[in-house]
Amino acid sequence: MTTTSTDRPPSVLSTELGRLTRADATAFLASLPARDVRLVVTSPWFTGPFTADSADPVSPRFTEWITGFLREIERVLLPDGSVVLEMGCTWAEDAPVRTAQNLAAIAALLASGTWKLLQEFYWYNPDFLLAKDEWVEERGIRLRDCVTTWFWLARTPDVPVDNRRVRGFQSHLTHPFGNFLAFGDADVDQAYLDRCRAEGTRPSEDRFPVAAPAYFIRLLTEPGEHVVDPFVGIGSTALAAELSGRRWSCNDFSAEAVEVARRRLLAARSAGGGGPATPDGPTTTAPPAP
Ligand SMILES: C[S@@+](CC[C@H](N)C(=O)[O-])C[C@H]1O[C@@H](n2cnc3c(N)ncnc32)[C@H](O)[C@@H]1O
Repeated sequence: MTTTSTDRPPSVLSTELGRLTRADATAFLASLPARDVRLVVTSPWFTGPFTADSADPVSPRFTEWITGFLREIERVLLPDGSVVLEMGCTWAEDAPVRTAQNLAAIAALLASGTWKLLQEFYWYNPDFLLAKDEWVEERGIRLRDCVTTWFWLARTPDVPVDNRRVRGFQSHLTHPFGNFLAFGDADVDQAYLDRCRAEGTRPSEDRFPVAAPAYFIRLLTEPGEHVVDPFVGIGSTALAAELSGRRWSCNDFSAEAVEVARRRLLAARSAGGGGPATPDGPTTTAPPAP
C-alpha cells in the first residue's frame, strides 16, 4: 500500500525549479503529489552482503525491497511516466561469481504484470577501469567491468518519447540513436573533480556523470515536467534537471552526500549554468578517453 504524507522533509536547498531534501526515500516519496512525475531516474543501493553459497546472489531481500519501492513510485508517477534504474552487476564477497540481484529484481518487476521493460542501456564508465579488484588484478581470473546497465521501465509501452531529442548527445564513438552510452566528464563534473583534488578528498565512487541523467531527461521529458531521484547521492540528477529547465525533487538520506549535492548546485548556479544539459540545445560532452 502506498502512503501519502503531508509532512514534507525540510529542504536543504530549493530553487525556482526544485528541492533537495535529506530524508529516507520512502518518506520523501510519500511527500510528493500523486500523478505528477514524468521521470524517476535513479541508482539505488543494493542490499548486501552477498555470498556465493547463499541465496543472496539473486537476493530475495533486494527484490522484495525494490518491488515495494516501485509501488510507492506508482503513486507519484504519471500513468505514462518512465522509471530509469541504473543497476549494474557486482561480485559476491567471497567468490568470483556475480550477484545477479539487478536481473532478479527486474525479472520480478516484469512478472508482477505492472511494469514493462521498454529498453536497457549500457553505459561505458571509464572510472570502473580504475577500481582495484582482487579477481582481476591479483589473480587474473576475471575481466574488469567497464559497463553498467540502465533499465527503462514504464507501465505502458506508449510513453511520450522522441529519439531525435538525443541525437548527437553522446560521443562520436557511439551511434547517435544507439543504446550504448558513453559520456565524457563535462564542465559540471569537472568542477566537482577539481574541487575534490584541491581539498584532497576522494570523488564519490557511486557518482554517475551529470550527462547520464541529462540524457534520459532529454529523451523522456519536456521542459517544465517533473523529474525525481530519491537516491540522488551527490546530486547529478538535480543538476541535470536544473540545467535542463525541468522541475525536480531530489533526495538522499546521507548528510555528507546531500552537502556535496548542495554545494554542486550552488556552484553551477553561480557559474550561470552550462554543462551538459542546457535547455534542449546542443551538448558539450567530450568523447571519453580511448
Ligand atoms: C548508488 S548511490 C547514488 C549515487 C548517485 N547516482 C550519484 O550520482 O551521486 C545510492 C545512494 O542512495 C542513498 N540511500 C540508500 N538508501 C537510502 C534510503 N533508504 N533513503 C534515502 N537515501 C538512501 C545513499 O546514501 C547513496 O547516496
